[in-house]
Amino acid sequence: MAKGTIFSGMRPTGRLHIGHLSVLENWVRLQEEYNCYYGIVDWHALTTSFQESEGIKDNIKEMLVDWLAAGLDPEKSTIFVQSHVPQHAELHLMLSMITPLSWLERVPTYKDQVQQLSKIGKDISTYGFLGYPLLQAADIMIYRSNAVPVGEDQLPHIELCREVVRRFNYMYDSEVFPEPQALLSKVKMLPGVDGRKMSKSYLNLISLAAEQDEIKNQVNAMVTDPNRIRKTDPGNPDVCVVDKYHGIYVSGEHEGIREQCLKGRIGCVQCKRRLAQELEEQQAPMRERRNKILSSPDYLDDVLAEGAKAARVQAEKTMERVRQAVGI
Ligand code: TRP
Ligand code: SF4
Repeated sequence: MAKGTIFSGMRPTGRLHIGHLSVLENWVRLQEEYNCYYGIVDWHALTTSFQESEGIKDNIKEMLVDWLAAGLDPEKSTIFVQSHVPQHAELHLMLSMITPLSWLERVPTYKDQVQQLSKIGKDISTYGFLGYPLLQAADIMIYRSNAVPVGEDQLPHIELCREVVRRFNYMYDSEVFPEPQALLSKVKMLPGVDGRKMSKSYLNLISLAAEQDEIKNQVNAMVTDPNRIRKTDPGNPDVCVVDKYHGIYVSGEHEGIREQCLKGRIGCVQCKRRLAQELEEQQAPMRERRNKILSSPDYLDDVLAEGAKAARVQAEKTMERVRQAVGI
């Protein structure tokens, strides 16, 4: 059987952190089973950051390094920048002709975001932002994708995409587009080291590019059970950030560590040292790959040029079918 096709993308909004790792690991795994297209979706970034567009180019490069360091492989997947493949925009325009305004207005993320952003004085009541999920549908459809790995928050967008696929196929009596399935990945939520939501502005996250010292410092800054004073006091791992990280990074031995904490048999200093070691073991091979990537200055541009070239070939094939189905 022919391999299925996958598209997924991320907006280039800055460095990734270890909270993104479970998503990337999933993408890496999918490379073995599917034809994967992974896009850095810079037009999507513009929908909300059109006033601060100067950082986008640097963010694209940083994101690409993070992706490759995490194990995305340009030999296996097509890795590219959305705006390098103009067919995404052409399909978006075509889809905009057949998509009722009400479908876009009722996407739950839309009104939410407009409201949220207007609270911080940002006006995104633009045409482009309303079309955000339709551009996303074009990203998926232009490769005639069968599946889209996403987090739960993106489900309304995938549902819209499926509706648009059905409408297009029906309206033009064609079977140009398959209906893509969402591949839900369990996104494991990690708090920031201070227990708040991970956020760049709180300086409470561990970036994917963290050096060993930064990992140690951030683990040391993690909030533990505040009622624990001596290391022989019984602890409560449920209120401890270290424990949340252990839950993800030491799956097999996690119960054992909790037990020791509950019985006051392990001190927080030792417990943190252990987590820092786990994280370091996980980050070391990524750091090695990152350094290798950064040591050849043209490599990143080459990856993106090759990726865009391959993506354009497929995207143009789809557009030929679309133009033919529509009759222009
Ligand atoms: N909206 C997605 C997000 O914020 C990014 C995205 C754009 C995307 N186009 C896509 C994800 C197509 C999956 C498929 O995460
Ligand atoms: Fe947290 Fe570990 Fe200290 Fe328990 S021993 S409170 S899990 S750091």
